[in-house]
Amino acid sequence: MKIDRQTISKRIKKFTNLMEVNSAALFLSAEQIHRNSDVEHRFRQDSSFWYLTGFNEADSALLIIKTKKEISTIIFARPKDKEKEVWTGKRVGPDQLKKQTGFKESYEYKELETQLEKKIGGLSHFYFEFSGYNYVLLRSKILEIIKNKRIQNISSTQNLIGELRLIKEDNEIELMKKAAKISAEAHEIALRKTKAGMYEFQIEALIEGHFRENGANWAYPSIVAGGNNATILHYVNNDQKLHKGDLLLIDAGCEYEYYASDITRTFPIESKFTKPQEKIYGLVLKAQQKAIEQAHLKNVSFESVHLKALETLCTGLIDMGLLKGNLKSVLQKLTYRKFYMHKTSHWLGLDVHDVGSYQEPNSEGNSRILKPGMVITIEPGLYFDPEDISIPQEFRGIGVRIEDDILITKNGAEILTAKASK
Ligand code: GLY
Ligand code: MN
Ligand code: MN
Repeated sequence: MKIDRQTISKRIKKFTNLMEVNSAALFLSAEQIHRNSDVEHRFRQDSSFWYLTGFNEADSALLIIKTKKEISTIIFARPKDKEKEVWTGKRVGPDQLKKQTGFKESYEYKELETQLEKKIGGLSHFYFEFSGYNYVLLRSKILEIIKNKRIQNISSTQNLIGELRLIKEDNEIELMKKAAKISAEAHEIALRKTKAGMYEFQIEALIEGHFRENGANWAYPSIVAGGNNATILHYVNNDQKLHKGDLLLIDAGCEYEYYASDITRTFPIESKFTKPQEKIYGLVLKAQQKAIEQAHLKNVSFESVHLKALETLCTGLIDMGLLKGNLKSVLQKLTYRKFYMHKTSHWLGLDVHDVGSYQEPNSEGNSRILKPGMVITIEPGLYFDPEDISIPQEFRGIGVRIEDDILITKNGAEILTAKASK
């Protein structure tokens, strides 16, 4: 799907409102990553570049210059090339791209450095990501050019574009709802079809098969973790056999038209919860419910949602005798980190861990107040090291996480992933 010209121009306008006068901002596309031999990875555009241009080719860039007099939008792209297009697909080309986006100027990508040299002299600010994963060499060359031009203030584009991307537009919310729906359906399929004796990759195939059937891809590699594997936070091998009575933790979410979803469900394989599994699952579910209730309230902070979940988990662990001391001391000494070592939420959007500051702008580090249009995950979990003999045996090897995607609305919050059973 394309982003229409009107949307692009609205976003560019909002972005340039945040730029200082006499500044430039440069966004690079994603790079086409080589895999092996003649094989390339599937191309996925850089999220901010996509957000501002709706253009999905590699080797392209967007330069925005804001002076007192005017705003210039300059796009760079690969040239049309009949021979290359036969092998790797159609290219839009700079001329057509200019028409498509409504940007004022367009050039071939190879002219990026020359045009920078020409256009940025005399500016006082430059916004750019110098430490991206892609175009490492080019990034350092660009930094050289900026330094040679004696531009005083160099800062990241993240803070500015993060402010825009943090509040989702209606059309973005539609896409996020669709992504959440596909992912919730995939989790339901996994719940229905999981049997003891299957391999983790077979569940992965069911889930990702559903993503592909619906025109989506994974937003991050699926975690399908049976038994002890559930205690490894980023387990992605997915190559072990599933055993009756073990828990299966599935953290899988699709990306639909560039927008991510992120769901985790944990359930016992072909059986009912054992007593210890039930206790832990029940506690994580309660922590999630408390955190979701918090997100429903008006003008609460991002951090307060985490604190609700954290306090609930810690209180439960103290009651079960798994943590010593009272709530205050557990929170102070961070002893809970042995069982809960990650945060409860992150922003969700074009990236699964989306951009946007977690602090209120122009504050002294105050946690962000949740506003309509923001989307967060709420994903408490508890993980018990299978080899830690200080943990009562009945809990060792249990890993539970429950994760949903929540849209903050005018009247509270909407759970986008509610269709996946808990
Ligand atoms: N799936 C990544 C996360 O839950 O943050
Ligand atoms: Mn998440
Ligand atoms: Mn997740």
